[in-house]
Amino acid sequence: MKIMTEKAIKVNLKEKSYNIFIKENILALSGNYLSKLKIGKKILLVTQNKIPSVWIKKVHKSLVKKGFKVFILVLQSGEEYKNLSSLLKIVNFAIKNKFERSDSFCAVGGGVVSDLTGFAASVYYRGINFICIPTTLLGMVDAAIGGKTAINIKEGKNLLGTFYQPKIVIIDPKTLKTLSKKEFLVGMGEVIKYALLENTAKVKFSKSSFFQFLKNKRGRILGLYSKELLQIIYYSAFVKAQVVSKDERESSLRAILNLGHTFAHGIEQAFNYKKYTHGEAVSIGICFASTLAFKQNLISEEIMNSVISLISDYGLPVKIECPFSLNKIIKSMLLDKKNKDGKFKFILPAEKIGKVKIVSGILVKDVKPLFLS
Ligand SMILES: NC(=O)c1ccc[n+]([C@@H]2O[C@H](COP(=O)([O-])OP(=O)(O)OC[C@H]3O[C@@H](n4cnc5c(N)ncnc54)[C@H](O)[C@@H]3O)[C@@H](O)[C@H]2O)c1
Repeated sequence: MKIMTEKAIKVNLKEKSYNIFIKENILALSGNYLSKLKIGKKILLVTQNKIPSVWIKKVHKSLVKKGFKVFILVLQSGEEYKNLSSLLKIVNFAIKNKFERSDSFCAVGGGVVSDLTGFAASVYYRGINFICIPTTLLGMVDAAIGGKTAINIKEGKNLLGTFYQPKIVIIDPKTLKTLSKKEFLVGMGEVIKYALLENTAKVKFSKSSFFQFLKNKRGRILGLYSKELLQIIYYSAFVKAQVVSKDERESSLRAILNLGHTFAHGIEQAFNYKKYTHGEAVSIGICFASTLAFKQNLISEEIMNSVISLISDYGLPVKIECPFSLNKIIKSMLLDKKNKDGKFKFILPAEKIGKVKIVSGILVKDVKPLFLS
């Protein structure tokens, strides 16, 4: 795949189609991109206190220069603030400042900000324009693309949500320079996932596979070298865009994006979302999915080992390293809506790296040993 930084990635959804622009220092040009869209005159930038203000200032300055009336709402950082109270803060702010249906909400932040702001945009006046400027790796390669919005309630994570596509996604890899290593790795868990979907998603990376690229360029990726960073963001965003374009509502193909996620959700929930970040839990989930695939004769031992090695080489966990309640994890994994009759349905690597298969009817007794080896 040729990386063309000037060209946009298109998410193709008929009248809901939009572009993803990825370019270093693009924040300072965000006004140019937004002024080409029909998004009203007023823009509410929603962000968080732990996001360096330098990024918001760049967006703000560029939008003001293009004649937009810009408002900024700074919320608290943290998953626990992806809640009803933050939603009401956005909505009340917008009402107080007389935002109309033709105006826009713009998320500048990670997945928490984009899920929350997207949800607010989808319900404010039955839908106001939504713009997404992700500033975490996970946001860039996953959360900002595809239109899933949500907030958490006390009964569970992401239980209130909508499908609501943004009008545009603007990605500036430079914003990752201020992100902590731990948060960067959260995104790498998802990036590695895309390497295992390359063939099934039918998006070829280049002559070499994306998996091989991640293996060869690990030092430069972890060192945040511009060229490699752009390549991993571009490719991952492209895969997500292609999959969403084919299946917006997850009725078929989009399900492959859940590779490792049934395990991950079980692990995150069992530790009350405190011990493992989402990316770490996804990494463990991908390792378990690979081990299960090997045990089901879907892949060779060699493939299983290379997947686990890559994850470990990136400094991500490959198993749960502390005491845990297996029953608690299995119980929450069984809540996954893909399952049927108490049996699991998993996305598993199959045949070779880059290919996955949906496998149903997996018994609890086949899953438990994965956690214990
Ligand atoms: N909608 C989707 O399709 C989708 C997909 C995956 C995940 N998600 C959601 O995304 C959320 C997780 O997103 P996340 O991993 O981006 O976490 P996050 O939004 O909590 O951001 C992580 C931390 O980094 C800070 N931060 C953000 N950008 C920064 C920057 N450039 N420099 C320094 N600090 C910065 C944030 O304030 C926060 O403290 C979860 O709520 C998850 O449910 C949604």
